[in-house]
Amino acid sequence: MEQIVFATNNAHKLQEIRSILSARFEVLSLSDIGCFDDIPETADTLEGNALQKAHYVYERYQVACFADDTGLEVTALGGAPGVHTARYAYPDRQDTEANTDRLLRELSDKADRSARFRTVIAYIDATGKEHLFEGAVRGIITESRRGTEGFGYDPVFAPDAVGKTFAEMGVAAKNRLSHRALAVQKLSQFLCGK
Ligand code: IMP
Repeated sequence: MEQIVFATNNAHKLQEIRSILSARFEVLSLSDIGCFDDIPETADTLEGNALQKAHYVYERYQVACFADDTGLEVTALGGAPGVHTARYAYPDRQDTEANTDRLLRELSDKADRSARFRTVIAYIDATGKEHLFEGAVRGIITESRRGTEGFGYDPVFAPDAVGKTFAEMGVAAKNRLSHRALAVQKLSQFLCGK
């Protein structure tokens, strides 16, 4: 079976992608290929970061690989936190609660609470050619946290036309329409034609 590397060690993401690509590909993680480096993510766009991670692996291991990057883009904040979504509250560490607190604080005097979650997947094929796939979901930032499932900003992001936050919807319903699911579907269509 053809092998493809997903430049992550996130168990949840691996499981999701393996279940989608398993008929055609053996999806290897970074630890599966013996890569324990802290891969740099220093670009100023999601596309740039995803490409940076995928190139890092391709250049060292010469294997087809893909990497993802996700950001929350809030209209009233000019697209912030965007590429800084994971470290919005503190530049040197990920603190989910503090990130969410900061977002609610920044929006407290804003009438427009519209936002979108966007995932970019960069795939470098075996010949070194780049391919980009994007999934995005529009919604609003709620005024306070609602729901207990999911992770990250899920309690304060409510996709349009659903009326519930990601954290209230439950993981299965979220994964059918999430930004990441849409980007993964596009990658899967490209790789498997389905
Ligand atoms: P990553 O690029 O997948 O690591 O995502 C960057 C950051 O975006 C994460 O640290 C989370 O804070 C946030 N994030 C990504 N995807 C989601 C999601 O589906 N729900 C809530 N937060 C998310």
